[in-house]
Formats: sequence, structure tokens, C-alpha cells
Amino acid sequence: MSSNVNGNKRVAIIGAGPSGMAQLRAFESAERRGIEIPELVCFEKQADWGGQWNYSWRTGLDEHGEPVHSSMYRNLWSNGPKEGLEFADYSFDEHFGRPISSYPPREVLWDYIAGRLEQSDVRKYVRFTTVVRLVTFDEATQLFTVTSEHLPTGETTTEEFDNVVVASGHFSFPFVPTVDGIESFTGFVTHAHDFRGAEALAGKDVLVVGSSYSAEDIGSQAYKMGASSVTAAYRTAPMGYEWPERFEERQGLERLEGNTAFFGDGTTKEVDALIFCTGYVHKYPFLPQQFALSGPNTLYPERLYRGVVWHDNPGLFYVGAQDQWFTFNMFDAQAWYVRDLILGTAAMPTAAERERSMTEWQTRYANTAAAAADQIRFQGDYVRDLIRATDYPEFDIDEVTEIFISWYMDKKTNIMGYRDYCYRSVMTGTIATKHHTPWIEELDDSLERYLSPGPSSREPATASRP
Ligand SMILES: Cc1cc2nc3c(=O)[nH]c(=O)nc-3n(C[C@H](O)[C@H](O)[C@H](O)COP(=O)(O)OP(=O)(O)OC[C@H]3O[C@@H](n4cnc5c(N)ncnc54)[C@H](O)[C@@H]3O)c2cc1C
Ligand SMILES: NC(=O)c1ccc[n+]([C@@H]2O[C@H](COP(=O)([O-])OP(=O)(O)OC[C@H]3O[C@@H](n4cnc5c(N)ncnc54)[C@H](OP(=O)(O)O)[C@@H]3O)[C@@H](O)[C@H]2O)c1
Repeated sequence: MSSNVNGNKRVAIIGAGPSGMAQLRAFESAERRGIEIPELVCFEKQADWGGQWNYSWRTGLDEHGEPVHSSMYRNLWSNGPKEGLEFADYSFDEHFGRPISSYPPREVLWDYIAGRLEQSDVRKYVRFTTVVRLVTFDEATQLFTVTSEHLPTGETTTEEFDNVVVASGHFSFPFVPTVDGIESFTGFVTHAHDFRGAEALAGKDVLVVGSSYSAEDIGSQAYKMGASSVTAAYRTAPMGYEWPERFEERQGLERLEGNTAFFGDGTTKEVDALIFCTGYVHKYPFLPQQFALSGPNTLYPERLYRGVVWHDNPGLFYVGAQDQWFTFNMFDAQAWYVRDLILGTAAMPTAAERERSMTEWQTRYANTAAAAADQIRFQGDYVRDLIRATDYPEFDIDEVTEIFISWYMDKKTNIMGYRDYCYRSVMTGTIATKHHTPWIEELDDSLERYLSPGPSSREPATASRP
């Protein structure tokens, strides 16, 4: 069944973040090999591509009254070594023309992601400032109907597609628990999704709730920008790093009385600011319930064959829907496989085969130890499985897995300094250079500053912390 006038398939891609961009790249790479590709329409509600990496100073609603998508903040740097996420078909060396450090700031990674696509003309497929409002499926025609709205004009469009790829991300709708007594708290309260920078936390006693990446990094940002103290309240287990003075972890935030926080270990602390670093929920407001992924943030979401095919309707795909150790090159592996299923160069397994495969991976996942190294190996094997099913360039996944495990240990050794360490690229063999300024002292996160020779040719970096 096809839906355009030339008899070609039509494919809708929802979102032009790294996952949607990987999908565009996957089709473009097939086209470069002379393969006829479907008609592509990529809907992107923001004015530019890059997803989370497309920073916005806004919080809450944007200029069109839409929920702001990105959860990134001004001072965000990669929290994993770039050697773990490098594209196999577009290296950092190719983009920057010289070695760079292992942990670049946000703008540098945004430049890298965009640079790969700027080489081709796939931008023509993206309808920017266009939000998808509704996706439905007609059993009789086996076609999806996608209703979208062009935000600047309010014009609504309804079109049919053979396939839909959901690449809208899952770190944008915050999970915000409540805390007894929070109504009496007179300090600053927010969720990590709305956090944009820690400068205003200088001199404050800061409480972050949670014990994962956001708690770790927003707590570290607050410390770096001169907070008087940082307290991280964990629910299940502490992060357990060797925190510097003025930074500590306490068990369970139980309640607030005014600005006094009460913890599960019986201690109390006066705090000025509270930041919920309590994660995100899967939310797809444009999908009817029977197509919408829900449940926890996990490495192997339920009902997704090979992590990408919506089992109950295999014309619908998700890219980037799992929890992530691997990111950009995993999205590529997924996008290449989805492309091949859509092109028909890979066969869609029967429902029974998909069930068997999902059960096998789910069982394996359930038996995977909670230790980070085991989780990383699990995701590495998942990525390898997809790459072997496609023509995505093979790379040494075992080596990438070792990089992630080593990174994990670096953080145990030096939580405030791990971003100064250097790794070797699996794709090119290039060893990263040391950034000219230690992360803890670097207060200018711009691409220009990052690529500059550094303080010797400019003003020395000065940290605001005591
Ligand atoms: C705070 C934070 C820091 C992170 N730091 C790192 C890091 O250091 N390293 C790393 O590898 N990963 C990091 N990540 C993980 C991040 O999720 C991935 O790097 C990547 O951005 C995921 O890509 P995506 O395309 O799946 O989703 P997103 O980047 O979220 O992109 C989804 C896109 O879909 C669009 N969209 C959503 N709904 C609609 C709609 N209805 N209609 C049209 N368009 C829509 C959005 O505007 C957005 O452009 C971080 C995530 C967060 C939240
Ligand atoms: N580049 C960077 O520096 C950077 C910075 C921030 C985030 N990120 C990325 O952003 C993504 C999301 O990370 P995240 O840390 O926001 O979310 P997350 O990894 O899903 O972690 C959520 C945290 O919230 C805690 N939590 C949930 N409900 C709670 C409750 N009721 N009370 C107390 N604690 C509760 C969880 O604790 P339990 O363990 O008890 O469940 C967990 O520690 C990740 O991909 C990460 O890599 C990157």
C-alpha cells in the first residue's frame, strides 16, 4: 500500500533531534548508493534541529505556547566521553579537522551533530516549527494519518503516511513528586527540566533531590558556581562519589517545614533552593494510547521489537526510546535498521518471531545485574545486534563498552575532574587532547572559546567559587 502520487511510500518522522536526524541520515546514505527512498516528511516543533542539544533559555511554554522541549542548561558539557557516542560514518576528526577533548560542551556537540547533515540536503525534508498533534491508523487502508500544526500561522495539515517513526525524545516531560510541607518552603523550587544555569545559586544552600545524572551534574554546577553547600537527597542509593567539601549526600527527603529539610536519617538542614532531579516520564500527547510507549525509563522497553518496532502495529517505529549509555551511534544503528525494514531490504519478522525475540531480550535484561558494567555490556550487545543486521559501518563495540566502564570508574576517582581525562577514538584511533582549561575552572562554554587556543592568548579563566 502506498500513498503518494508516484506510488512511493511516504514516511513521517516525528522530531529532528539526534534520533530523527539519524533517520534522515540513514535514508540519505541509502540514496547515495542509488537506492530509491520513500518520500520523507520530518516534523520538528522547534525552529532548528538538534533536539535536546538545541538550547533554549525559555522554560515552561515557548513563544507559541508549546511546552519547551530541551532540558539542557547553559553550562552543560557532555557527561560521557565523546568517544562513546561518535558516529561511525562521520568522525570528530572529520568535523573539527583536529583532535579535541573528550568532554565537549553542549554547543560543540550540537555543531558536530548538525555538521554531519549539513553536508547533504536533507534539511529540505524537515518542516520546522511544525508540531504533530495527532497520529491515527486506518485498518482498512493500513495508512497512518498525521495531523500537524504550523506554529507561526496556526495552519493545520492532515496527511497520510505508510510509516511513522517516533523520534520525539523522552527527557522533556518532568516527573515531579511532592514533598510533605513543600507549601511552606519559601526558597527557589524547580525541576531539572527548567534549570538553566547555577550562577544564581552562588552563596546558597542547595538541595537536589535524586541520585542520577541530573542530581550529580546540577549539584556539581551549583558547587562550581559557588553554592555555600550542596546536599543531594537519594531515595534508593547514594551516588557514592568522593564529593568535595560543601557537597554531601543524605538519605531520603522526608518533609519540609519552612526552609528546614528533614531527612530519613533523622538529620535536618536549612536550604535556600530545591531542585527536583527526579527524572522524566514517557509522554506522547500526539499518539492514541494503543501506540504510546509508557512505563519506566529502561534499556529494553516493552512491546518494542528490537527496541524499535511497535509490536502491535509494525508500521510504527520508535528511535531513541530506551535509557541511554550509548546515544548517537545507537540511534544510528536503530535508524539504519528501521530504514531497511521500511525499504523492505530487511524482512519484518512474523508476530510470533517478534514475541520470541522480545521475550529473549527481556529475560536477559531481567537477569542482567544492576552493576553499571553489566548494563553497559547489555546495551553494547543490543547495538551490535542491530548493526550486524544493517550496512552501518561496524566499529569495535567492545572497546566502546570498555570506554564507558572506564569513564564510570573515572567518576569514582575524581567526580569534579573526570571531564579533564582523555580517551582514544574507536573510529579513528585519535587520542583526545586535554582542554586548555580544567572543567572546574572553565566558565565560558561557547564553541568559540572551546576551540580557541585558551587562556595563554586570552584572559586567564577565573572561577567564582571560593
Ligand atoms: C539534560 C540532558 C543532558 C544530556 N546530556 C547528554 C550527554 O552529555 N551525552 C549524551 O550522549 N546524551 C545526553 N543526553 C541524552 C539525550 O537524550 C540524547 O543525547 C539525545 O538528545 C536524544 O535524542 P532524541 O532525538 O531521541 O530526542 P531529543 O533530543 O529529545 O529530540 C526530540 C525532538 O523531537 C521534537 N518533538 C517532540 N515532540 C514533537 C512533536 N509533537 N512534533 C514535532 N516535533 C516534536 C523536539 O522538539 C526535539 O527536537 C542528555 C539528555 C538530557 C535531558
Ligand atoms: N550531560 C550532562 O551532564 C547531563 C546532565 C543531566 C542529565 N543528563 C542526561 O539526562 C537524562 C536523564 O537523567 P536524570 O538524572 O534526569 O533522570 P534519571 O536518570 O531517570 O534519574 C531519576 C532520578 O530521580 C530519582 N527519583 C525518582 N523519583 C523520586 C522520588 N519520588 N523521590 C526521590 N528521588 C526520586 C531516581 O531515584 P531512584 O534511583 O530511587 O529511582 C533517580 O535517581 C540521562 O540520559 C542523563 O545522561 C546529562
